[in-house]
Amino acid sequence: MNGELAPSILSFPLIELGQAVPIMVENGADWIHFDVMDGQFVPPITFGDQLVRDLRRVTPAKFEVHLMTLTPERQFDAFISAGCNRVIFHAEATVHAHRLVQQIKEAGAEAGVAINPATPVAVLEPILADIDLALVMTVNPGWGGQKLIASTLDKVRQIRALRPEMSIEVDGGIDAFTVAAAKEAGANVFVVGSHLAKADDLGWAVRNIKDLLV
Ligand code: DX5
Ligand code: ZN
Repeated sequence: MNGELAPSILSFPLIELGQAVPIMVENGADWIHFDVMDGQFVPPITFGDQLVRDLRRVTPAKFEVHLMTLTPERQFDAFISAGCNRVIFHAEATVHAHRLVQQIKEAGAEAGVAINPATPVAVLEPILADIDLALVMTVNPGWGGQKLIASTLDKVRQIRALRPEMSIEVDGGIDAFTVAAAKEAGANVFVVGSHLAKADDLGWAVRNIKDLLV
């Protein structure tokens, strides 16, 4: 399957996003990925639903929110009404993953569940039939610009063997070099953050990654 590119805005200066997001979308970005951190599930604090609402005004692209937050269900309605088409929460952040997936779907968005590098695929298995996407963290969540942890790609392989058609997203340390290994493991949605944020020519960098996903 052709891969989809989901640029993360995390490593861009917030004041440049009104220009950077449309450039990425015009050059082939399939989703815009919003990394929301609460200072509890992970140490940093990023931004809330207002940023989604503001960027909704500059592009019709699909938006996904990656909630690195405790009690993620408190944020679902705010981010969906701000314009998110997909909501991803962490399996480690709740004991009610099945119910939360239903809650997202009933609110009209796609539901994704993320697992950290230390979390086994077995945690996702009971809900694989219910979710629209599994997000395999390929770094420990909290910061952009980290190196991909190779062992996480084995979990992508495991999920792909269980679900040949399901969307599997990788997030962390994906660039023009590592994207091939992630694709080979079976991922089909690729979050790319710092690699794009530091590109001299943003449009070219987006097209280059997209070419590697065909
Ligand atoms: C990490 C975030 C990622 C991050 C990826 O906690 O979930 O989306 O922005 O950034 P890079 O591509 O720089 O690893
Ligand atoms: Zn993310």
